[in-house]
Amino acid sequence: MLTGMPDRVRPRLLIDCDPGHDDAVAIVAAAAFADVVGIVTVAGNVPLDRTTHNALVMRDLIGLDTPVHSGCSRPLVAPPRHAGFIHGESGLDGAELPEPTTPLDGTDGVEFIIDTCRSSEGLWLVPTGPLTNIGTAIRLVPDLPDRVAGVSLMGGGSFGNRSAVAEFNIWADPEAAAIVFDAFDPSTPGSAAGPLIMAGLDVTHQFQVTPDRIELTRAVPGRLAAALAGLFDFFTGTYLSRHDEGALSGAALHDPLAVLAITHPELFEHADRHVVVETRGEHTAGMTVIDERRLLERSDPNCRVLTRVDADEAFAVVLDAVARFSN
Ligand code: BDR
Ligand code: CA
Repeated sequence: MLTGMPDRVRPRLLIDCDPGHDDAVAIVAAAAFADVVGIVTVAGNVPLDRTTHNALVMRDLIGLDTPVHSGCSRPLVAPPRHAGFIHGESGLDGAELPEPTTPLDGTDGVEFIIDTCRSSEGLWLVPTGPLTNIGTAIRLVPDLPDRVAGVSLMGGGSFGNRSAVAEFNIWADPEAAAIVFDAFDPSTPGSAAGPLIMAGLDVTHQFQVTPDRIELTRAVPGRLAAALAGLFDFFTGTYLSRHDEGALSGAALHDPLAVLAITHPELFEHADRHVVVETRGEHTAGMTVIDERRLLERSDPNCRVLTRVDADEAFAVVLDAVARFSN
């Protein structure tokens, strides 16, 4: 455990999420190691009213003093599609969670993103759900990506989980994802300089909630750890029931890696690649097409693709974050 280590420089983050078990952990990690200037919710794992409710619950649970705004209630073009079969009907099945005690700060999530990016320097955007809010914000303010330190997102990969080639967050709103990836593409006029970091399935599947890790979580004192252990039991149950026996040791804890990529970059290896989002393919919509060619004629990279994570260290960091909110 890393508890007791001196705090490092805390980056400033805005989280755009659809909680969701792993989004909940991303919020905890961000609150522990970064200054969270706001949480915006989006429809994704469950409909917007539930992702918003769950974000408010998480804010209470960790006593976080940051505004929560709800954003888009459906994708730009694609029909609304959710993932209750992974996260349960509530989006956070597996723990008895209290009702929120604090109200939503606004239903203007996209405007909140725009205003916050305009008024602060050095802000990181961390989307851990479909990219509808961020894509809409960029459509309205095309130079927005150039105003932020960067975007670190969970999504995509060289294989899929909602189709053979598409990961849920990108598949749920491919048009919005394409706007974000294009905004960082050097071939786009006025493209953003800051990095676009992609925590895709290649890296997040290295970070699984194994039975040992669930017990380590349960051993941390306090109601947050107890709640997360219950959430992990449920999340791992749905993952294992949907995969071939032996394919996984537990649920892939995707979303916190988008946070740790900023707060603990030493845990990762990466490759800079040109990545585009497929929006139209009959069998490939929502795919992130990662150019792995060694041909000199390939396009310049627009994306820092995370390729490896030190999973034991990363989980120790998550436990440290949880322990900081023991009460
Ligand atoms: C992503 O989809 C959601 O189910 C998770 O919260 C994560 O953001 C993984 O494909
Ligand atoms: Ca998510």
